[in-house]
Amino acid sequence: MKYKRLGLIVAFCFASWLLFSLVVFNENPPRKAESQEKKGSLLKYIEELESDISHQRNLHKVLVENLDRLRKNPKSPPEKVEDLKNVLANLGKLKPQNVVLKTPAEKLSQTGKPVLPILVFSCNRPDVRRNLDGLLKYRPDPEQFPIIVSQDCAHSTTAEIIRSYGSQVTHIQHPDQSEPDVPPGELKFKGYFKISRHYRWALHQIFRRFNHTAVIIVEDDLDIAPDFYSYFSTTYDLLLKDPTIWCISAWNDNGKASLVDMSQGSDILYRSDFFPGLGWMITKDLWDELEPKWPKSYWDDWMRRPEQRKERACIRPEISRTRTFGKIGVSNGLFFDKHLKYIKLNENPIDFSSRNLSYLIQSQYDKQFVQMVYSLPVVTATDVRTNFNLPDSGAVRITYHTKDAYKSAVKLLGLMDDFKSGVPRTGYRGIVSFFYKGRRVYLAPNANWKGYDLTWS
Ligand SMILES: *[C@@H]1O[C@H](CO)[C@@H](O)[C@H](O)[C@H]1NC(C)=O
Ligand SMILES: *[C@@H]1O[C@H](CO)[C@@H](O)[C@H](O)[C@H]1NC(C)=O
Repeated sequence: MKYKRLGLIVAFCFASWLLFSLVVFNENPPRKAESQEKKGSLLKYIEELESDISHQRNLHKVLVENLDRLRKNPKSPPEKVEDLKNVLANLGKLKPQNVVLKTPAEKLSQTGKPVLPILVFSCNRPDVRRNLDGLLKYRPDPEQFPIIVSQDCAHSTTAEIIRSYGSQVTHIQHPDQSEPDVPPGELKFKGYFKISRHYRWALHQIFRRFNHTAVIIVEDDLDIAPDFYSYFSTTYDLLLKDPTIWCISAWNDNGKASLVDMSQGSDILYRSDFFPGLGWMITKDLWDELEPKWPKSYWDDWMRRPEQRKERACIRPEISRTRTFGKIGVSNGLFFDKHLKYIKLNENPIDFSSRNLSYLIQSQYDKQFVQMVYSLPVVTATDVRTNFNLPDSGAVRITYHTKDAYKSAVKLLGLMDDFKSGVPRTGYRGIVSFFYKGRRVYLAPNANWKGYDLTWS
């Protein structure tokens, strides 16, 4: 009985299905729907394929561009090769907009060299002519080293002089000539507030309007050395390779002729914890970091504070590649007469591109330089000054343990005696290197040095 009923149900279902099929399939509407569906999914598939191919094409375009860049610039840091390898390994998995190389694509000139613009800060000194003449005289390639003069102060005579250089330089003018907001106690330092504002504006133009990836900054009162461009374009590589190097400077704060090695010293470079300024280069990455917190005034001492420096070093030469000829400026003329005008400008041009500068990378430098300094015989500042009690030849070390000991030693020897955020001028891990009466001398703290003391000033 049960089975009979079940059989009936099954038979009924089968019949219904048959009938349903006959009606439905013969009249075709479902087929139409199905084929439309198929057609729809085919279109969708083609679209997907299309977008996939275009995505692959974009990826390849990015790859070809970057390979081309590497080919033209074989000195590119190896990280980039790694990045490219990653891109290759992930081809198809990535969306093109996600393909970001760690180092932003550099601008390259026709000759395949990174474009390093020179930003000249100008205000109301017609003497900017002397600076521009020097920059143009030694410039090896206008395309690789475009000169951008940023003028503050709206001084018309100076503006005319800059314009007279025509297309050799790009002239931009700081539009904000309003009175800066200066706290009452600092009115006499208003000039520093204007300078800081101008720096921020001009660097913003360099990186956000001209889209450069690095910049060399000079002021209108600087002479440059014949190998100025070789120095910066070669050390640029260090700036990219070593994250503990945040700037390249052309300036030796203790670079008086009597304190540098004039016969052999032209190609010697150092790491320095002291930010020297006066002809210096940074990358856009650093500007991205500094711009949002750029100070209203005293920007250079602000850069020297630990919050900004973050234990990074600048590269500086034994013999300066810039020299200031300006006497009248915001900083006082006394400092110029006592000190700045004695800084030696290098006259023996070096082709830095032929030099191996990898000794300046932190891992190598800290091992070699620091160990070398602490293996030297120890003498006193008086010994050095009087050239008495010293080994016949070779480098020596003077030890200091306190701020006062440091100050009295440098006064005796004619070095600069100030500290900024606890760092002595040109100091690296507290070590100050100079040349004295034909001998290399290092003024150095204890070997177990623990870091700079912010109270030293
Ligand atoms: C710089 O980049 C911006 C944004 O990508 C672009 O609008 C501008 O045209 C670029 N400027 C130059 C000079 O390439
Ligand atoms: C550069 O010098 C380093 C040591 O400082 C050395 O390891 C490296 O092989 C040198 N490179 C070239 C290309 O000579």
